[in-house]
Amino acid sequence: MKISVIGAGYVGLTTAACLAQIGHEVFCSESDLDKLTKLQGGGMPIFEPHLEEVIKAVRKAERLRFGSTDEAIAWGDAIFICVGTPPLPNGDADLHAIEAVARSIAKRASGYRLIIEKSTVPVQTGAQLRKHLSVHSTNGLRYDVASNPEFLREGTSVEDFLHPDRIVIGVDSPRAADMLREIYEPITKQEFVCPIHSDCPKRKAPIFLATDTNSAELIKHASNSFLAMKISFINMVANLCEVVGADVTKVAEGMGLDPRIGAAFLNPGIGFGGFCFPKDVQAFIRIAEKSGCDFSLLKEVEKINQRRVEHFVEQVRNELWVLRGKKIAVWGLAFKPNTDDVRFAPSIALVKSLVDEGANVRAYDPEAMGKAKSVLPNITYCSNPYEAAEGADALLIVTEWDEFRNVDWERLRSTVERPLILDGRNALNAAEAASHGFHYFSVGRPPVLPGQAGSAAIGASAFVGADIRKESF
Ligand SMILES: NC(=O)c1ccc[n+]([C@@H]2O[C@H](COP(=O)([O-])OP(=O)(O)OC[C@H]3O[C@@H](n4cnc5c(N)ncnc54)[C@H](O)[C@@H]3O)[C@@H](O)[C@H]2O)c1
Repeated sequence: MKISVIGAGYVGLTTAACLAQIGHEVFCSESDLDKLTKLQGGGMPIFEPHLEEVIKAVRKAERLRFGSTDEAIAWGDAIFICVGTPPLPNGDADLHAIEAVARSIAKRASGYRLIIEKSTVPVQTGAQLRKHLSVHSTNGLRYDVASNPEFLREGTSVEDFLHPDRIVIGVDSPRAADMLREIYEPITKQEFVCPIHSDCPKRKAPIFLATDTNSAELIKHASNSFLAMKISFINMVANLCEVVGADVTKVAEGMGLDPRIGAAFLNPGIGFGGFCFPKDVQAFIRIAEKSGCDFSLLKEVEKINQRRVEHFVEQVRNELWVLRGKKIAVWGLAFKPNTDDVRFAPSIALVKSLVDEGANVRAYDPEAMGKAKSVLPNITYCSNPYEAAEGADALLIVTEWDEFRNVDWERLRSTVERPLILDGRNALNAAEAASHGFHYFSVGRPPVLPGQAGSAAIGASAFVGADIRKESF
């Protein structure tokens, strides 16, 4: 099918590349001219594993092109809208980019188009789109509007798109449903050349769930809010563990063994970030408020998350006493591993807070430093983790990159001024840290002293190491 994708961000680029990979002819547009020029010249505006290789291959096969939104509107029988929906100051989703695209489609398109919202939008946005398209249509446009919420996770977006658990569509016409079934058929049947795995035939076909548009829109916000709730829940349990001397890793393990609860998203840390959970929770709270439903549960989820960084800084203060003039190494700036995305990352509030108190922050992240520089200009960026740790009074782990898990302990020990680690992601092995002379603090677990290799340290790290890698949001 001829498909257009509007917006070449994390979602749009992945959608365009993967739809081309499964055989469609795709035109992807981007309004940011720097990004567009980069893409047209074969460059990548974002870091996302496997995406660059897929884009290269499908462009070579002439199934993916990049250009303007007007060209995209003229091209596709189906048009995926993948523009950003950031939060407004009051928490509402800012839909101005969606509205602008709808207006362009209404003014420029003629004949039939299936217009698909893939951006995360508040319930009833589909209804607004229909109204708006009718009001502004000048060229005899005939259309259906469908919702197709995206559940991919940055860091594994290509894999998530090609091998999803479920594909949700919200449609109000059989024609829209048929077109979406056709678009996704190679994925629902798992019949395509997979650019990532050699063992794909063993993979399970995803559930294809068709609902009305309002329900599909709600599924996305409700899913993200629920996952955010799990994270805030375990973070509060972690606070309690710190006070009573329990180990949150073991508590989470015990809880997660109950299939009704599940182990996923029970890893405590310094809070969730990124371009989904924080804004989607806010938007869902506002949707409920405007509908007369008091979803105060979610207000607590948000509050708990907002306090995570302050709680962590308090722990840093407890150890370093005065922050002014202290050298603090920060490992990780991305909101999670395997992405360069720092939008709403806890690292931003954390580093700002440390800098405000006069600390000298030296940071390293394998992929996110380019993007971090514009939001965190007043720190030293280092070319590797050990350079960041040089002469440090404390080392803070902020993103659980594998590179940090595989630390050379001897080298680190000889690099820092004071062997003190505060691990905001429970990423490192506590027993190993202690055996190399570090005083190791983590989230919701008893601190481990140099030389101590008690059962708490060993047991906890074994579970975290096994579980945390599987999970991402
Ligand atoms: N990032 C994620 O992990 C993720 C996952 C699921 C859903 N979502 C949702 O998907 C949407 C997009 O998220 P993202 O992370 O890809 O955002 P993004 O900011 O990375 O990408 C959006 C892109 O759209 C472009 N754009 C805006 N208006 C345009 C126009 N008129 N024509 C062409 N391009 C235009 C922007 O320049 C930008 O590059 C959001 O609603 C988000 O909530 C994101």
